Amino acid sequence: MREELSRLVSDLKDTLAAERDLPTGAHFLTPRGEPRRPKASDTLSRIGAAVMVCARCRLSRTRCNAVPGEGNPESPLLIVGEAPGAEEDRQGRPFVGKAGDLLTKMLKAIHVEREEIFIGNALKCRPPQNRDPAADELAECRRYLMMQIAAIRPKVILTLGRVSTQLLLQTSQGVLSLRGMQRPFPYHDGEAVLLPSLHPAYLLRNPAAKRDVWEDLKTVHRLLREATGDYPPPLE
Ligand code: URA
Repeated sequence: MREELSRLVSDLKDTLAAERDLPTGAHFLTPRGEPRRPKASDTLSRIGAAVMVCARCRLSRTRCNAVPGEGNPESPLLIVGEAPGAEEDRQGRPFVGKAGDLLTKMLKAIHVEREEIFIGNALKCRPPQNRDPAADELAECRRYLMMQIAAIRPKVILTLGRVSTQLLLQTSQGVLSLRGMQRPFPYHDGEAVLLPSLHPAYLLRNPAAKRDVWEDLKTVHRLLREATGDYPPPLE
C-alpha cells in the first residue's frame, strides 16, 4: 500500500513537471471554455519535440540523436525497453538493431506488427559505450515516459528487462523474480496492466530463456484480447 502510494505520488509529480516542460501548452479549451483532452498524436509530437532538444542530463552531450519512441499513438500495447544502442542513436528510432530484429519477430509470433503498437525506452538517449543508465539520468528521463503513458493510455505495458521494469514499478527487485510472478501489475490508476519480461538482448545471449518469454508473449496476447475484444488476431 505504501509502495503503491509513493509510486502514485511520484508519477503525479513527474507528470506535472513534464507538462511544465512542454514547448507549448498541453491542454486546450473547448469553445465553452472547458478543458479538452488533446489528441494523443498531438501530445506525443510535443513530447517528441521536447525530447529532441532535452538537455536535462549529460547524455544530451554525447548522443547523435535522441530517440523519443515511435508507433501508433492509440496503441493498446506499449513496449518499454532500456535505452537506445548504437544503431538507434544513429537512426533516432527505437529497437532497430539486432535486439530490435528479435523483438519484431517475437511480436509477429503473437500476430502483432510493430507499426500497430508503440515502442519506447526508459532512457531516450544512448549511454556512451552502452553502459548501464545512471540513476540520475533515469530520474530525469522518467517524466517523458510517464507523459507518453498518459497520452497513449495503453491497456498493456510490456517492460523489457531490469531497467524499465524497475523504473516503472519504482522497485529495486530483480526482473527475473518480478517476471517469475507470472501476473501483471495494475498500472496507471488501474487503466493498464504492466507485465515485466526479459530484454531481447538478454535472449540473444541466453537463448534458453526464450521459452519463458514465449509464456509472457502469450500472456500479452491474452491480456490484449481481453482488453480490446478482437486484437490481435487469435493464435492458431
Ligand atoms: N535496446 C533497448 O532497450 N532499446 C532500444 O531501443 C534498442 C536496444
